[in-house]
Amino acid sequence: MEQHTILPSTIAVDGPAGSGKSAVSFAVAQRLGYLFVDTGAFYRAVTFLALEQNVSFDDPAALAALARRVHFDMTPDLDNDGRQYTMLADNRDITPHIHSPAVDAYVSITAAAADVRAALLDTQRRVAARGRVIVAGRDIGTVVLPNADLKIYLDASLDKRAERRYAQRVAKGEPADLAAIRRGLAERDTLDTQRDVAPLLRASDAVYLDTTFLTLEQSIDAAMRIVLGWHTARRSG
Ligand code: DC
Repeated sequence: MEQHTILPSTIAVDGPAGSGKSAVSFAVAQRLGYLFVDTGAFYRAVTFLALEQNVSFDDPAALAALARRVHFDMTPDLDNDGRQYTMLADNRDITPHIHSPAVDAYVSITAAAADVRAALLDTQRRVAARGRVIVAGRDIGTVVLPNADLKIYLDASLDKRAERRYAQRVAKGEPADLAAIRRGLAERDTLDTQRDVAPLLRASDAVYLDTTFLTLEQSIDAAMRIVLGWHTARRSG
């Protein structure tokens, strides 16, 4: 008899920057035919537009007004040029702009603004409600989708995460300084875990996956095993 694997329709993946969250979530989404929803991209989108429109990062109300004014959406890669997704702001494709060093430098400020988070919460839930989604971020299992079918928390040591970011920059031919990247990640860890609203936190019902000693392929395989074993684990759990 043919075996049908019952899959979780909504998968939440949380963890710090450089834990492999995006690469693993994207690969799993591709294997399952799901949409990868990178929620960091929404905070990055607001940050990019704020820089473009000279909105002050000292003014959380202005950042929140911007987040409310713009209609954000995330779709599969529209150009089919290997990108993990397309980030749309009022139907404008801003994907190429949201991973710049300038956005990296300011995005934690945007993400710490409670009213920005409130504005983006509905957007993220609207996109996730389409189902067959892997939603990656910091507060997905705890705040955005507390009822997600499956929650995974990905982790890796700070040194390892810095090495990975460094290698990514070098591979793209961008200037890279390992010590500076490590400092930047440590700072973002502090901001993301210690902020008052929706800090990075492991949900009590999340499956913990440490990727420090795993290659990307091994991390993807480990995540796939968790996804494919979800139904059995739930029945026996
Ligand atoms: O995952 P990333 O590096 O693209 O995230 C960018 C920033 O947004 C980072 O400071 C963490 C924050 N973030 C958040 O606060 N909540 C999320 N769900 C996703 C990202």
